[in-house]
Amino acid sequence: MPDIAPETIYLADYTPFGFIVDSVALTFDLDPRATRVTSRIAFRRNPEASDFDFFLHGEQLKLNSAKIDGAAVSPKITDKGLSCDVPDTPFVFEAEVEIDPTGNTALEGLYMSNGMYCTQCEAEGFRKITYYPDRPDVMATFKVTINGPHPVLLSNGNPVSSSEHHAKWYDPWPKPAYLFALVAGDLIAHPGEFTTQSGRKVDLNLYVRPGDEGKCAFGMEALIASMKWDEEVYGREYDLDLFNIVAVDDFNMGAMENKGLNIFNSSAVLASPETSTDMNFERIEAIIAHEYFHNWTGNRITCRDWFQLCLKEGLTVYRDSQFTSDMRSAAVKRISDVIDLRGRQFAEDQGPLAHPVRPESFQEINNFYTATVYEKGAEVIGMLKTLVGDDAYAKALDLYFERHDGDAATIEDWLKVFEDTTGRDLSQFKRWYGQAGTPRLSVEEAWEDGTLTLTFTQHTPPSVATPDPQPQVIPIATGLIGPNGNELAETRILEMTEARQSFVFEGLGARPVASILRGFSAPVVLTHELSDADRAHLLAHDTDTFNRWEAGRTMARQSLLAMITKDAAPDSAYLDGIHAVVCDASLDPAYRALMLGLPSQSDLASALHDQGQVPDPAAIYRAGEAMRDAMAARFADKAQSIYDACKIDAPYDPGAEQAGKRSLGNAMLSLITRRTNGDLAQAQYDAADNMTQQLSALACLIRAGDGETALAKFESQWRDDRLVMDKWFGLQVLEAKPEEAAAVADTLTKHSDFNWKNPNRFRAVFGSLSVHHAGFHHASGDAYALLANWLIKLDAVNPQTTARMCTAFQTWKRYDADRQAKAAAALDRILATPDLSPDTTEMLTRIRG
Ligand code: ARG
Ligand code: ZN
Repeated sequence: MPDIAPETIYLADYTPFGFIVDSVALTFDLDPRATRVTSRIAFRRNPEASDFDFFLHGEQLKLNSAKIDGAAVSPKITDKGLSCDVPDTPFVFEAEVEIDPTGNTALEGLYMSNGMYCTQCEAEGFRKITYYPDRPDVMATFKVTINGPHPVLLSNGNPVSSSEHHAKWYDPWPKPAYLFALVAGDLIAHPGEFTTQSGRKVDLNLYVRPGDEGKCAFGMEALIASMKWDEEVYGREYDLDLFNIVAVDDFNMGAMENKGLNIFNSSAVLASPETSTDMNFERIEAIIAHEYFHNWTGNRITCRDWFQLCLKEGLTVYRDSQFTSDMRSAAVKRISDVIDLRGRQFAEDQGPLAHPVRPESFQEINNFYTATVYEKGAEVIGMLKTLVGDDAYAKALDLYFERHDGDAATIEDWLKVFEDTTGRDLSQFKRWYGQAGTPRLSVEEAWEDGTLTLTFTQHTPPSVATPDPQPQVIPIATGLIGPNGNELAETRILEMTEARQSFVFEGLGARPVASILRGFSAPVVLTHELSDADRAHLLAHDTDTFNRWEAGRTMARQSLLAMITKDAAPDSAYLDGIHAVVCDASLDPAYRALMLGLPSQSDLASALHDQGQVPDPAAIYRAGEAMRDAMAARFADKAQSIYDACKIDAPYDPGAEQAGKRSLGNAMLSLITRRTNGDLAQAQYDAADNMTQQLSALACLIRAGDGETALAKFESQWRDDRLVMDKWFGLQVLEAKPEEAAAVADTLTKHSDFNWKNPNRFRAVFGSLSVHHAGFHHASGDAYALLANWLIKLDAVNPQTTARMCTAFQTWKRYDADRQAKAAAALDRILATPDLSPDTTEMLTRIRG
């Protein structure tokens, strides 16, 4: 462990910066090893501050010279920044620093990726570019000059002038440094155009490296659709003459919303039918929308400090999920989001990394770009909208934009616009931002004389972050399904505020089946004891598409848990129930495909852990296999005809309609292959003209034990396409037998194309290994040890991606003593590494507990 304890930052300690920045001018003289950055920053005292000590962040910078009002100064320098004496009156600070983009393997600040320069400044990367108050509440206009021998030289805002090897940019919108961006390289523009609702023409460009031109069209369409949607739904218009997106191969995250110059991980923007799956297309559309929507929710209104991260991320995730619901199927999107929430956020909330949507302390902010901040943050907004209603939500958002445009705002500001719009007191609701942990909600029913009484109890397990959780406001959308399958009443929003609370439905002729938490109206774990017949009734008849799916999911979970713990046989009522839904050709194929999904193995481990049991990954895996076999048998009568009905004669289209058919068809292919052999999968593989069909068939072939030839063919077909090769690496790990997963991953790391410094490639292998539940938690402990070796190696190069990958271990205390000992040894070995980064140290210290 490092000798110096990393510093902990507290929300409660917030104070404004002592100075206001009036303007920033930067000049970059690009050089791969020694880029010179010259800055000229106008400061004056901040009337709202009381501390006027002048400190500028700066890390890994070589200071060549510094001046105040033209006179040379010699500031005091530490590894965190610079301080010096400054006048009481407004002054100009100038500095010249030198940085090394090639040596920057952490991919934070200015770095090189395949010969191009690019930046990533959120959260605290700008301090690796020059000395600056690198905090989101310091906003300024930036003028940027770039000198470099590259055809394309980009920064934020509007172009001022450009000549060969020289470009000037000006961003008129004051922004925090984390939104700064610069790109330079030999890039090709895929152009587009958008006319805003007020009639302004905006030039759009998607910049890619030569060779990727054919993968731009979809991203451009998605951008245009996003710009239109934000005008129509939120009344938000774009505010510059130009909007640029750049695709970068080496990137720690998905994408970044830099003002007017979004930078994307190439995997989050490049798409073509031959190389991208339907899921890739959907994700790309959502990420483009997400980054574009940040222009208002993040950029025009930013965060006062990093504790408020959910202010922009929760809201922007909420907005992008609304967008996807409008572009595709709202029912399918909701179910997919809940699957994701349970898999990632609930797991986080159940373990040592649990933290509130708005954390109160951190050491490394990059460690808090989490499912809790993003996805639970979005759920909280969804609940708020449910509670106040659509009209009030729209009015509150208008007020938010009007009141806070240009501000660095807080969650208090956000909630206040809702309070002012509706007159509601949201102080109890605010607990959703302040308390960690997933509430457990249970319900008891009483039936008498035509009256149904539902009594709910809520309880949130205590955590290190929140030792004493208080009752939260839970909107419980509830409907009643009659004995004939008809809906007896409109969905009611039950507003639960107490620890235990009853709600009454009167005047009912016959006892209905209650459909509770419709649309997953709150991020809670619901226990609703129902008879098997009532649950099957909901699966057959619930008019709420989410709860209909949920009924099947609950039956699957209960059956799997009984198989794991009591050696029970697969529940035939469940199999019959989903058989009926999946064979109902009047339903959306995408929805039918979702019905065939099973709870993930790690979700089952969570459920067992919640019941006070120690999950056995091997038993969970076996139960899943047995259930899949039973499904294959149950669908033997219809699988081929459904598969055939899913054939598409039209040219490939990534839209929801075709994608849904492919998804259902491939679910059938997988059942057919399980029961027969790889022939149909091989035929599909050979005939495939798009990646969805090719990759699904390949997965089936690997599972059938017939993958070797196809894998070799796939490799020789795609060896020059990085993004497709990521799939090739990942799939082999994902589809490996549990006892072979670590060895498969290990072998892949010896492949000549395993470029471990590229985060996408590293994640293709090790991200896949860590989500392979039975493989990662195999009794041998081999996967724990292998991942530890690689995390030690990667930490020296890229702390951010290393720290993020440590979450693979977050559930280690659920398992048996042998596994725990092996995981602890792996964790301790990483922690004992000399010079371990603060990022990884913080994560592992929390995980190790
Ligand atoms: N603001 C970006 C987004 O959600 C995420 C960037 C996070 N980057 C980081 N290094 N923490 O769209
Ligand atoms: Zn975001």
